[in-house]
Amino acid sequence: MSAPRLRNVKIVGTGCYLPEKRLTNFDLEKMVDTNDEWIVQRTGMHERRVAADDQATSDLCIEAARSALENAGMEATDLDMIIVATVTPDTIFPSTACRVQHAIGAREIPAFDLAAACSGFIYGLSMAKTQIASGVVDNILVLGAEVLTRFTDYQDRGSCILFGDGAGAAILSPSSGEDDGCILDTHMASDGSEGDLLILPGGGSLNPPSIEMLEKRQNYMHIEGRAVFKKAVSRIVRLVDESLERCNLKREDIDVVIPHQMNARIIESAAKRLDIPMEKIFINLDKYGNTSAATIPIAIDEASRQGFLKKGDLISLVTFGGGLTWASALIRW
Ligand SMILES: CC(C)(COP(=O)(O)OP(=O)(O)OC[C@H]1O[C@@H](n2cnc3c(N)ncnc32)[C@H](O)[C@@H]1OP(=O)(O)O)[C@@H](O)C(=O)NCCC(=O)NCCS
Repeated sequence: MSAPRLRNVKIVGTGCYLPEKRLTNFDLEKMVDTNDEWIVQRTGMHERRVAADDQATSDLCIEAARSALENAGMEATDLDMIIVATVTPDTIFPSTACRVQHAIGAREIPAFDLAAACSGFIYGLSMAKTQIASGVVDNILVLGAEVLTRFTDYQDRGSCILFGDGAGAAILSPSSGEDDGCILDTHMASDGSEGDLLILPGGGSLNPPSIEMLEKRQNYMHIEGRAVFKKAVSRIVRLVDESLERCNLKREDIDVVIPHQMNARIIESAAKRLDIPMEKIFINLDKYGNTSAATIPIAIDEASRQGFLKKGDLISLVTFGGGLTWASALIRW
């Protein structure tokens, strides 16, 4: 008996939502001992968005989802599954994805959250691809969304400059093949031995909410920035090369790289080592900072709407983050 044939899968619509409120480097100068010049030089960031007091992660998702549905020419009732990649869910349970399912008027379809920090969206993309490829379902909404500013310590100048809020969405459906656009390759990996490098230490079952936990500011993210920086560069280089190798392609074949927007210097170092010109790399961290799972889908949506992505382009998605986790995808647009 021959193995069942897998279907090709492509992105048929994208959307994003960024809250209106801006937090600039000059605002941060008033909050911690830092300055615009240092932040721009060390990170490339100028400002980030901050969710309104009455907005939770699902609210950002709902806007991004509606935009992606419109872009795909679909109704919410066409969806067969919703995956929300986030580490800042509205509540531990019910999942943010279930709130989204109800709010957008989807049918009684599977909806769940996926926690892989900055790698979450590509993890979601990879899982959605295999579900559709195997013929289980047709249309999957994958969201990457965070309200990180609620978990950012605005007394820690080493981390508070980095993070912002936002949501990005992609809808995946079957494709007729490479000419029609398709996801050529996805890869996911993890190494839990260094999870403490990027951690939100309090609020979970290990260290539940308590006065002591709050006094130690463990309800905020803790990052070892310098250590993460070094690991990120070499990992990104390997991820891109390995994905090309699996598809029998070369670095020169890449038209656009959409990297996780963690730090412009990390991206520039990786690009230099890969010998990929910066003109091929899409960067929007100057406007939004690092929105963890949301950076890549926001960037895909912006790049697509700005005409930065052209039909037939080979696009490399690559990310590295908390867990530690890392992931990549190669897409024929
Ligand atoms: C955080 C990060 C921007 C720091 O940049 P860096 O060049 O590595 O800077 P360092 O941590 O080596 O600090 C250099 C100096 O600047 C100081 N500094 C740190 N934050 C500062 C700030 N906001 N403003 C001014 N000075 C600052 C440090 O105290 C240090 O001073 P010292 O030399 O007197 O000790 C960078 O390491 C980074 O982006 N890392 C990855 C971030 C990350 O983990 N993101 C989430 C993962 S997806």
